[in-house]
Amino acid sequence: MADGASSLTIPPGADAGPAADRPKTLIGLAGIDFAYPGREKVLSGLDFVMEEGGRIALTGRNGCGKTTLLGVMMGLLKPDAGKISVFGKERREEKDFREVRPLMGFVFQDADDQLFCPTVADDLAFGPLNMGRSKAEADRISEEVLETLGLEGFGDRVTRDLSGGEKKLVALGTALALKPKTLILDEPTTFLDGKARERLLSLLNELNLPFLIVSHDFPFLKKTGCRLLELSEGKIRELDSFPDWD
Ligand SMILES: Nc1ncnc2c1ncn2[C@@H]1O[C@H](COP(=O)(O)OP(=O)(O)OP(=O)(O)O)[C@@H](O)[C@H]1O
Ligand SMILES: [Mg+2]
Repeated sequence: MADGASSLTIPPGADAGPAADRPKTLIGLAGIDFAYPGREKVLSGLDFVMEEGGRIALTGRNGCGKTTLLGVMMGLLKPDAGKISVFGKERREEKDFREVRPLMGFVFQDADDQLFCPTVADDLAFGPLNMGRSKAEADRISEEVLETLGLEGFGDRVTRDLSGGEKKLVALGTALALKPKTLILDEPTTFLDGKARERLLSLLNELNLPFLIVSHDFPFLKKTGCRLLELSEGKIRELDSFPDWD
């Protein structure tokens, strides 16, 4: 095993003491294999646990499979082997994931994959409306989220004309508009300037939600006080210090 690393040995449901003392597993992956058709395995026997209150950073070299792992976790990619549990239940089929996906707080690496409405307000209201909220409630949530993000007055802006950093924040907003139980953020600081990064940092503290951040942005991750994991050769291992390859 490489310096600074220890193996991650807490598969979901492992006996780690009396049940009452154990933090609840929110998201658990065990023995996950995944390969794109005709390609070598990207994930191989991978285990992962996000517990209540967890603050986790996942890093790893470009192309090692971080975004793929999030796709599997969200039920957007079907693993070739292994088990996935989310919010206390094993999830296998699309319908199992559909129940929980809005509450997982997923924010795509590319904001253009998340934003598809004409205006920012429409994008923020889309999820709540889809979940059965009234137009008035959805508009109120949209306003609240803009305030939370420090983007007051952005509701009428044309989404496709926003800057890269503004789009990233609005993409996060579409996840927050659904009142998620966790946040799963794929490279959230790309395009963010210093002020927006500070805003994101204080948001993560204020929101007090368990989160998983996929990122290479070590200065940012250091400030979050996260537990640090690395994806390498298809598996996750825990690091006790930041690697020097970035
Ligand atoms: N749809 C796809 N079909 C075939 N191969 C793919 C597909 N999507 C990704 N890959 C490949 O799978 C591997 C993992 O990709 P992935 O996007 O998960 O990496 P990543 O760790 O998120 O990288 P980055 O740090 O650049 O975001 C890469 O080799 C990539 O080229
Ligand atoms: Mg990626």
